[in-house]
Amino acid sequence: MNAAIRAVVRTALHHRIKVYGVKHGFNGLINDDIVEMRRGSVANIIQRGGTILGTTRSAEFETDIGMNKAKETLDRHKIDALIVIGGDGTMRGAHEFAKKCSVKIIGLPGTIDNDLYGTDFTIGFDTAVNTALEAVDRIRDTATSLERLFFIEVMGRCAGFIGLAVGLAGGAEEVFVPETPSDIHALAQKINESIKKGKKSNIVIVSEGDEAGNAFTIAEKVKAIVEEDYRVAVLGYIQRGGTPTAHERILASKLGYAAVCGLTKKMFGCMVGEVNNKIVYTPFEKTYTRKKKVDPTIYKITKILSE
Ligand code: F6P
Repeated sequence: MNAAIRAVVRTALHHRIKVYGVKHGFNGLINDDIVEMRRGSVANIIQRGGTILGTTRSAEFETDIGMNKAKETLDRHKIDALIVIGGDGTMRGAHEFAKKCSVKIIGLPGTIDNDLYGTDFTIGFDTAVNTALEAVDRIRDTATSLERLFFIEVMGRCAGFIGLAVGLAGGAEEVFVPETPSDIHALAQKINESIKKGKKSNIVIVSEGDEAGNAFTIAEKVKAIVEEDYRVAVLGYIQRGGTPTAHERILASKLGYAAVCGLTKKMFGCMVGEVNNKIVYTPFEKTYTRKKKVDPTIYKITKILSE
């Protein structure tokens, strides 16, 4: 997100547009917690994770009173357009705010889950995948040395993009994601066969939102069938921080730049994304009502390559 903030600020200043930074997400708009941003305000942040502005999930912004206060803040500072960054909740909030208070808004896709329609990749996804992958590689050393079965849980409450990417790149035996039905019996059978074949270790990636349960639940269900000892690792919040990858910094810089260009061309009420290497602007509503589909071939390849 910092790389996106930097791109927005510097592109706007390039176009001689005055820029403010809103602290703590929509709450900052409600509470008039905003600061003027200059070139130096975003110096030395492209390599830093998180957001220098801070963020929050704002319940007050979901009320008319909250939105009206936010609009008053914008008017008080003579701010005539807003750029927001976040996931589906942010796009939903921005859409409501634009409709109810006639505010000109452009969105930037920022979530590790990659579950926004209108962009191939969201800002945060690639770094989260690489962080999780590094952990999987490390865990594999234990799995191989001690000849163990591991269940590794990655983030993704409603979407399996992280799970699928980590599964394929990490050479997992199986990936369980919320989008597809998870067959515990088939997994148990595969593990049984792999042990018979002399395979030293098995790694199963589980998205936290899988319908069969979390990694602990799934591991117990498998154990009830194969009686194989196992270990569970829940990667959790390490996936949400750290130095962004090069891919991420480039994407955030391109999208931040495109968001300001969009404003100058009066492209409001939409999210800027990148699809097939092209910048596209998708109406807010579509970004969270349409379902971005996971690629089933990734799942198929993962299974074939681990046979
Ligand atoms: O929305 C991204 C996400 O990382 C989900 O995958 C995860 O379940 C959730 O955030 C957890 O975040 P929090 O605990 O802050 O609600």
